[in-house]
Amino acid sequence: MTKIAIIGGTGLASITGFEITGREIVQTPYGEPSGPLVQGLLANHEVYFLPRHGAGHTIPPHKINYRANIWALKQAGVEQVIAVNAVGGIRKDMQPAALIVPNQIIDYTVGRTNTFFEEGLKQVVHIDFTDPFCEKLRASIIQTAEEHSINVIKEGTYAATQGPRLETAAEINRLENDGCHLVGMTCMPEAALAREQELCYASLSVVANLAAGRGTEELTMEVIEKNLNMGMERARKLIELVIPSIS
Ligand code: HPA
Repeated sequence: MTKIAIIGGTGLASITGFEITGREIVQTPYGEPSGPLVQGLLANHEVYFLPRHGAGHTIPPHKINYRANIWALKQAGVEQVIAVNAVGGIRKDMQPAALIVPNQIIDYTVGRTNTFFEEGLKQVVHIDFTDPFCEKLRASIIQTAEEHSINVIKEGTYAATQGPRLETAAEINRLENDGCHLVGMTCMPEAALAREQELCYASLSVVANLAAGRGTEELTMEVIEKNLNMGMERARKLIELVIPSIS
């Protein structure tokens, strides 16, 4: 059985049906992870859960210690990671509460520590990041969704922005011109660090809102949370169904 971890994002600080069996505090050479790794049983399978923004949802996207989080999961023996990301929908079909399994990323973040390979190297390392997500895990998520009639959008290009503010309407137009379909703040450098640690990593992105300038509603935290709750319910269900098929 391979060890699986779920990195929870905004709207997924806990998982219903997840029977907690322990908590593991992992020390890393990179500082503290967002919190202890929560060990437990989901659909009768052992999984780790790590809420990326901390248990009380207090760590903003640009302050997350992505290296410590990925390192802690690697140390725990995790091989596969399902990352849950709240996003804004840019493409028309990416309406609030839609689920997306993105297949590409454009990284617009700045000033985040984005590699394990920077000091004490015997040789410079460049990882292959042509396909930034684990295709096998993406395929499992998509197949499980199809088998259970859960609507998911099977691909999309994720724009990773710095935040914590949301974008301007012009910034969203630029992202769209660049070929991006959804926008969020947490997939990078997480996905790249996971690849550096040879973890099989895929994102299940949940649309919280229409991206800036795409809707008429003001983008308040209340609106985002309301939409997210609907989407996260389906994301939770899908994750529960995926776990047995990948472990
Ligand atoms: N932009 C960036 N990140 C987000 C958004 C958004 O519109 N919604 C949720 N996370």
